[in-house]
Amino acid sequence: MDACRLPVAVLVSGSGTNLQALLDRAGRPDAAYQVAVVISDRPEVFALRRAVDAGVPAVVVDWHEHASRAAFTDEICRVAADHGAEALVLAGFMRILAPEAVERYPDRIINVHPALLPAFPGAHAVPQAIAYGVKLSGATVHFVDEEVDHGPIIAQEAVPVAPDDGEAELHARIQAVEHRLLPDVVQAFAEGKITVEGRIVRWHK
Ligand code: GAR
Repeated sequence: MDACRLPVAVLVSGSGTNLQALLDRAGRPDAAYQVAVVISDRPEVFALRRAVDAGVPAVVVDWHEHASRAAFTDEICRVAADHGAEALVLAGFMRILAPEAVERYPDRIINVHPALLPAFPGAHAVPQAIAYGVKLSGATVHFVDEEVDHGPIIAQEAVPVAPDDGEAELHARIQAVEHRLLPDVVQAFAEGKITVEGRIVRWHK
């Protein structure tokens, strides 16, 4: 590992397009972070292949093999710590971590969500936004606290909803924004340019 770059663990559950964006950004000469390990709650997801292809350790912490959310969270934190991770990035991670994770990584867990929080928290943000009839949705990157999709907002960007958008169309346009926003946030965080006080996040030059 490069001692100058913040080691982060990236948590995934699926295809890992956000992971890919993070890996690509970490490969640039000015990157201030490195992906120390990729952790999936499910085996055989494409995100694990992306990690292997990038030469990054890929570990499955199977949700179904743990007796409780606390035990699952404990194992994730142990794997992250074993790989030297100093922050966690949830990139399409579809499980809720127990509060112990926030205690171990206070203001050091970053999540990306496909809606403009606090609208449409949870696992079905994109179809819910379409069904509600909003004209604008978007992407949110935020710190994780003890409540689901609730922590201090670091960055947001709006995406217009087109009249004939289905879930796939809108989600694809939101993800295009996520792929820029999430690596930018992790880079700025690793550079020490992001501070948080209560709910208020500030970006510094
Ligand atoms: C992303 O769009 C992310 O915002 C969303 O899952 C997708 C994962 O895509 N996360 C959530 O809905 C969390 N509530 P990816 O695996 O291709 O990065």
